[in-house]
Amino acid sequence: MNSVKIAQIAASEGREVELRGWLYNKRSSGKLHFLQVRDGTGVIQCVVFKDDVSPEVFSQCDHLGQESSLVVSGVVRREARSPIGYELSVRQMECLQEAEGYPISPKEHGVSFLMEQRHLWLRSSRPHAVLRVRGEVLKACRDFMEREGFLLVDAPIFTPAACEGTSTLFETDYFEQKAYLTQSGQLYMEAAAMAFGRVYCLGPTFRAEKSKTRRHLTEFWMIEPEMAFCELDEDMEVAEGLVFHVVQWVLEHCQRELQVLERDLKPLERIAKPFPRVSYDQAVEQLKEQGSDIQWGQDLGGDDETLFSSRCDSPVLVHRYPAQVKAFYMKGDPQDSRLALCVDMLAPEGYGEIVGGGQREDDLQTLEGKIDAHGLPRETFAWYLDLRRYGSVPHAGFGMGIERVVAWLCGLHHVRETIPFPRTMQHLYP
Ligand code: 4AD
Ligand code: MG
Repeated sequence: MNSVKIAQIAASEGREVELRGWLYNKRSSGKLHFLQVRDGTGVIQCVVFKDDVSPEVFSQCDHLGQESSLVVSGVVRREARSPIGYELSVRQMECLQEAEGYPISPKEHGVSFLMEQRHLWLRSSRPHAVLRVRGEVLKACRDFMEREGFLLVDAPIFTPAACEGTSTLFETDYFEQKAYLTQSGQLYMEAAAMAFGRVYCLGPTFRAEKSKTRRHLTEFWMIEPEMAFCELDEDMEVAEGLVFHVVQWVLEHCQRELQVLERDLKPLERIAKPFPRVSYDQAVEQLKEQGSDIQWGQDLGGDDETLFSSRCDSPVLVHRYPAQVKAFYMKGDPQDSRLALCVDMLAPEGYGEIVGGGQREDDLQTLEGKIDAHGLPRETFAWYLDLRRYGSVPHAGFGMGIERVVAWLCGLHHVRETIPFPRTMQHLYP
């Protein structure tokens, strides 16, 4: 007999099929058992009528625990009251393993309990929906990059030096040397951009974030495009294009998931290109008017980002921050030496920064000066400085945090729900 997936059940209407899955929920009344069976692609009601099955199968259903693994055969029937439009009239059932005392029941549980049970919680409808959206976001990213002529080049995880400031480095022993878990693949993408023109990496990055905010993980995924012969304006255009494509893709491919999450679609549907471009100077003025106590020269804090972005329909590109709050590799603004040619994209609805990037310093002496000024060891950057020694060109790129984007698109309060097994200061298990 054909084994089918619940998502494709419509094609088997009227036929007998075999389903393989897990018991999600159960209800019984007299001669009937109603088994909700999930198989990863969907949930279907399987109706077990006493006269249709063997007495052993019928009585086994009496004590079948949630998440027991099952192979169920039966006839697919159209059923108007079913959320998927079909149910299964069961003829035969085999239980592979009878589960007892599954800790997560369909009733409400607190998030900290559910996080301890993350390995099981993944089966529930909400995490299931979020992780499907995550999968589609990653697919949309790769799709966009390929369309725009970027080559996927993987960056290393063990690195000899900091990229984003020394205070958030995870240090590890590396055969009598110190190594750090990568904070960003950017420096390696700069090397790759000089070899291939347009490249990107997509993988996990690490920050020893001591903050317990709803936007920070210690392990998060980033997509990092890098382009040779590229300046800040084009960099912003590519970031805008990527984010817009991801939003459209999710609206098109994740309707069902967004409905499970009760996401209001209107704010996502309102997003339009071009996204507003605002200088840091203008942003600070506007924030002061909105009641923030930010002073020129400070980075935008989480609250400032929330305040600023909650006013806009589309994501906003804030460019040219003071160089003193940004990383060593940023190119200075030739119009105003206090500023860096950088950009942060702030998501609407108060979600804050989802993209950070900009144009890179391409002059050897200036870059050496910046490495020294940031107190970084020049030796470990010798290879990076070679990129300015041999055919330096204007180049730019950015990093987009996958979890921040998924949290925003799903309308979630905290990024920890957007990654299968979140790592924060408090979470290392499971
Ligand atoms: O702004 P960041 O630190 O930029 C970089 O790492 C650059 N080297 C990227 C580049 O130009 N190639 O990080 C980029 C993005 C942020 O905008 C945010 O979306 C995400 O990565 N991010 C985090 N997401 C979750 N948890 C954290 N601790 C994050 N830190 C940054
Ligand atoms: Mg940033």
